[in-house]
Amino acid sequence: MAYQTLLTELENGILTVTINRPDKLNALNKDVFNDLDTLLKQVYTDNQIQSVIIIGSGNKAFVAGADITEFGNLSVEQGKQLAKRGQDIFDRIEQSPKPIIACVNGFALGGGCELAMACHFRIASDNAKFGQPEVNLGLIPGYGGTQRLAQLIGKGRAIELLISANMIDAQTAVQYGLVNYVVPQDELINKAKSILQIVNTKAPLAVAACIKAANAVWNESKNGFNEEIELFGSCFGTEDMKEGTIAFLEKRKAHFTGK
Ligand code: COA
Repeated sequence: MAYQTLLTELENGILTVTINRPDKLNALNKDVFNDLDTLLKQVYTDNQIQSVIIIGSGNKAFVAGADITEFGNLSVEQGKQLAKRGQDIFDRIEQSPKPIIACVNGFALGGGCELAMACHFRIASDNAKFGQPEVNLGLIPGYGGTQRLAQLIGKGRAIELLISANMIDAQTAVQYGLVNYVVPQDELINKAKSILQIVNTKAPLAVAACIKAANAVWNESKNGFNEEIELFGSCFGTEDMKEGTIAFLEKRKAHFTGK
């Protein structure tokens, strides 16, 4: 699939997606959103893709935010539509049945921090910086940032970052639980791939069910414990569950088919 603003590479079931606007520090403009929209359709439907890494091009920025040049003269209604578009795409990242992880290789500001937070987890390079600087522009995050930041690091820390526009470095991000690991920049992709290579050997429907159940924690329309009962039960109707248990008893490696 050809994209205007994304580079993609599929290797061993892992799709590496590079947001490729290096001159603008990979800022999210309309084209990036359109490409992410198409990309997600591909991720959801293409059986060759088992998991996804999102990274920014270059070594300075993951994504330095929404493209500020597109904010120009938006009306109140157009502002809402922009937030709706961003939230819709980031929700589909969060709800993806296939793991999507962010490799934060530099600035993750505004919409960039929101994109990283929509991913299932984050790994940062040691030069990464996180922040929600929207109040500098007379704005607030619009792509789910006020909600996911509070979910991930707690309300007190989130509100401090939101209202001060302060950035935090990678070490602070790991201490806050915003990222799982901090590694040197040249080890970032390999760290992500080493984790996903393990994930890709697991039963895909069970992996998807774990993501769905964990997401239910923050979905007010669902009771997460009931969701877990349903998903646990549904696993017993899969071929992979039978294969997994038989393989264990036969002391051999399971071969999962995603059925
Ligand atoms: N939207 C549009 N363009 C952006 C951008 C954004 N969010 N962030 C960076 N850019 C552009 C700059 O305008 C500049 O373009 P130019 O070379 O055509 O002038 C280019 O990317 C490089 O950025 P620059 O500011 O020169 O780099 P820097 O190293 O001096 O500073 C940042 C890096 C990240 C601190 C700075 O770019 C910045 O504060 N960006 C905006 C962050 C932000 O507020 N994001 C939230 C938006 S809601």
